Amino acid sequence: MIQENIDLQPYNTFGLAVKAKYFAAFKTIEALKLLIDTTEFKSNDSLVLGGGSNMLLTQDFDGLVLKNELHGIDIVKEDKEFVWVKANAGETWHNFVMYAIANNYGGIENLSLIPGSVGAAPMQNIGAYGVEIKDVFEELEALEISSKSIKTFKHSDCDFGYRESVFKRDLKGQFIILNISLKLTKNHVLNTSYGAIENKLKECSIAIPTIKDVSDAVISIRQEKLPNPAEIGNSGSFFKNPVIEKVQFDALFEKYPNIASYKLNDNAFKLAAGWLIEQAGWKGKTIDNYGVHKNQALVLVNYGGANGSDIFQLSEDILESVHEKFGVQLEREVNII
Ligand code: EPU
Repeated sequence: MIQENIDLQPYNTFGLAVKAKYFAAFKTIEALKLLIDTTEFKSNDSLVLGGGSNMLLTQDFDGLVLKNELHGIDIVKEDKEFVWVKANAGETWHNFVMYAIANNYGGIENLSLIPGSVGAAPMQNIGAYGVEIKDVFEELEALEISSKSIKTFKHSDCDFGYRESVFKRDLKGQFIILNISLKLTKNHVLNTSYGAIENKLKECSIAIPTIKDVSDAVISIRQEKLPNPAEIGNSGSFFKNPVIEKVQFDALFEKYPNIASYKLNDNAFKLAAGWLIEQAGWKGKTIDNYGVHKNQALVLVNYGGANGSDIFQLSEDILESVHEKFGVQLEREVNII
């Protein structure tokens, strides 16, 4: 059933109160196909919402919002070492991680507590603490809007990059992700090399961690650093960490020897955008009811009642100020709608 004039505040983690002209939720693929056949779909723009955790809604949406409510998790196959698990796109990502931990399936414990839905996860190749979804990704199924047929995308079809995939670029708006399949481990290879995880495990005197220990460590680190969207509206990292060339890095390093960075290869260095934004004086800055989070400058926040367009302007000001100070062009990670 298509509803009209619906408030999207409950459906986006920034908590922005904008309205959708039309709104419909789908619980089955058949229901989705029927929606694609409606005039409301055919003669308007559409927007598929999962957890609404990676978008900034800057104005009312003059089209049809489709809320993905495809639920269910199944084991596709397993052997002695691995289990292939298929999860429908409307599942909450963190619940899926908790399912994996409870069943002792490894590989996504570092991705605990990332807001959003299963379907959105491959779209932007979610990542945290040294792991990205592409590391465990097997395949996904998506509905092609033009033909209403279901296509399978293998790993190489998705063209994963840093917070990127083909679904954010060449195929944008053409497919609706229905489910994803991940190859998870039974004999785990933990990734605890990220400093914050190592420290947290030490602090808890855990010498031989389980995947549950790693998940608990990640949850506790995220809770310390990142605002909980249920309490303070936000979309996680608003910007990506920029990659620059050696010449530029050397010049910056000479001027700022404590610059937070990570060497990718001989000619490429990743900078911590959070550090750059903090140095440019933005960390903790509050303007009316929105601002830059006090513990992590990469995260913009809505303290309640803010406008998406004001938050967008804040992001413009940050981009400009970081560029002016460091000559580095930041890019947004969230989708601006
Ligand atoms: N830093 C600052 N000031 C800040 C924030 C960070 O100086 O305000 C410095 C830190 O001290 C550290 C470095 O920047 O030296 C890196 O910080 P952190 O470990 O917090 O990670 P990040 O690079 O800021 C990225 C991801 C996060 C992910 C963490 C952990 C991006 C855009 N963000 O943040 O992802 O959780 O690493 O792996 O890549 C997200 O995508 O929404 C997200 C939260």
